[in-house]
Amino acid sequence: MLYPQETIEQVLEASNIVDIISEYVKLNKKGSTYFGLCPFHNEKTPSFSVSDSNGRKMFYCFGCHTGGNVITFLMKYENYTYTEALKVLADRAGITLPKPEYSREDSEKARRREQILEVYKEAAVYYYHLLKSPRGQQAYQYLKNRQLSDETILKFGLGYSDKYRDDLYRYVKSKGYTDEVLKETGLFSIRETDVHDYFWNRVMFPIMDTRNKVIAFGGRVMGEGEPKYLNSPETAIFEKRKTLFGLNTAKKHKGNELILCEGYMDVISLHQAGFTNAVASLGTALTPSHAAVLKRYTSGVVLSYDSDGAGRNAAVRAIPILKNAGLSVRVIRLDPYKDPDELIKAEGTDSYRKRLKEARNGLLFEIDVLSESFDLTDPEGQTAFYHETARRLSYLEDEIERENYLKTIASQFRLDQKLLKDRTIRLVLNRDSGRTYSSVPTQPPARRPEKKEPAGLLESQKTVLAYLAEHPGFLEKTGNILSPEDFTPGLYRDAAELLFAQIRQGCISISGIIGSFSDEESQEQAADIFRPGQLHDDDGEYRKLAADSIILIRQHSLEQQMEKEQDVGRLLELKKEQENLRKCPFLFD
Ligand code: GTP
Ligand code: MN
Repeated sequence: MLYPQETIEQVLEASNIVDIISEYVKLNKKGSTYFGLCPFHNEKTPSFSVSDSNGRKMFYCFGCHTGGNVITFLMKYENYTYTEALKVLADRAGITLPKPEYSREDSEKARRREQILEVYKEAAVYYYHLLKSPRGQQAYQYLKNRQLSDETILKFGLGYSDKYRDDLYRYVKSKGYTDEVLKETGLFSIRETDVHDYFWNRVMFPIMDTRNKVIAFGGRVMGEGEPKYLNSPETAIFEKRKTLFGLNTAKKHKGNELILCEGYMDVISLHQAGFTNAVASLGTALTPSHAAVLKRYTSGVVLSYDSDGAGRNAAVRAIPILKNAGLSVRVIRLDPYKDPDELIKAEGTDSYRKRLKEARNGLLFEIDVLSESFDLTDPEGQTAFYHETARRLSYLEDEIERENYLKTIASQFRLDQKLLKDRTIRLVLNRDSGRTYSSVPTQPPARRPEKKEPAGLLESQKTVLAYLAEHPGFLEKTGNILSPEDFTPGLYRDAAELLFAQIRQGCISISGIIGSFSDEESQEQAADIFRPGQLHDDDGEYRKLAADSIILIRQHSLEQQMEKEQDVGRLLELKKEQENLRKCPFLFD
């Protein structure tokens, strides 16, 4: 982490989580906790809680189990990085963050990246300015003819690169940038004898990262010409295989699907029509990195690729990549139009909305495409199609889902349902012979390899941590029989270490504990441990549960130690403690 833990805690301490979250979610007070509709999943009754009491300073959704401190909230809601969220909060609270501890090499790199970003920003502003000037008349007219409004042009920062070979170069030079930096931007070819711009007499589409910083351009010829689009080369700030055009805006969309299309123009005209959740990869095939980026912002994707053969092939290739990233996939039908841009121009927004609603599940689309490559009138072709369809169906884990698709497909292609089902079941059985084909959902694989872990061990650890956070005095009352080393290594042990230390110092900060984990997943798990709720239970019962849990944890820990212990004297000590533990002295006082 770039900042010391104490700085982070200082910022958290100074941030009022209820005030901050209230800016995004309408909250109502219930007891000591605030409730509202969860911004991270769709719901009608509020299960999203925010607590600011007892040093808790956290949010937790009882519906989707998302939770964390105010930093986590901003990371999830605004898609900030950890450092960005921290900066925003520090600014708000008037705290100056210390200089992060970068190595010199890192800071040199960071400075260079900053400069490249600056040049791109200058360039984008310049191109936009040109478009709106007399020199950009033709380009402006071109965009107007494509029915883009001035508002859209401004929103996407569209521009024009002039005909002169070094127009942009002379402009940024006048701003004082050195050739060394300019070379690295990829916007120029700089040789001793000759200098010229990369983009030349094109309509310019700035490509922005998720923080709205211009990191590259796409440039389109006006009318016919080759290449139709020219894209910036990759640089220190631009990686094609990770970048999605339009994501800077689409990420703010609160629905649970993003629309993925092929081209810049598709994204722009979809946004103009109100579908602000549209994005596109940059003329390259979709990569697993794209899918991983998408997964950060959405749970599902609607493919809106061109309806021609190339588009269908691209969709067939994109579907497994998206599914592998854990995204749900649907595919929209655009025919007889070539792409979303054409469809909206021809039939309007409502027609696209209707097709969006009717978008088919990715699997059905795959099978549809598949059916075209087999001759279904020929018995051999039919057999092959049965087999291929069954193979795909057999990958569906959920039996009900599989059954539903099986029925739909059988009726659509007039297949014998029983035959298709038999074939599918056989494949399922073959694939995992250990597993039977039944309606019992498959068990998720066990997380930890340790064999002897008693049932409920983690649950007990959770209970104890949550109870101690509320009743710190209890730690001492137990005679300190429990130490952080008794907790499962990893998140639970780390959380215990921090909590125990805080209890000893007499100052508990749950948000600080959550904040000590730098990845979102751990933060959420930590928030889950300390989630509010148990407070309202009958305290006596709760305390007994905590005491029982302490015994269970310590028992298990002792057993593990005894297994490893070679020293007989020490072994006897452990054994004795284990026996005493059963008498649980502190349970009854
Ligand atoms: P219009 O034809 O202007 O409506 O744009 P489009 O976005 O519909 O373009 P098209 O469907 O032809 O291509 C989809 C995407 O592929 C474009 O948005 C570009 O990102 C990319 N692309 C298209 N042509 C080229 C090219 O010649 N070179 C490169 N590098 N990329 C291209
Ligand atoms: Mn297109």
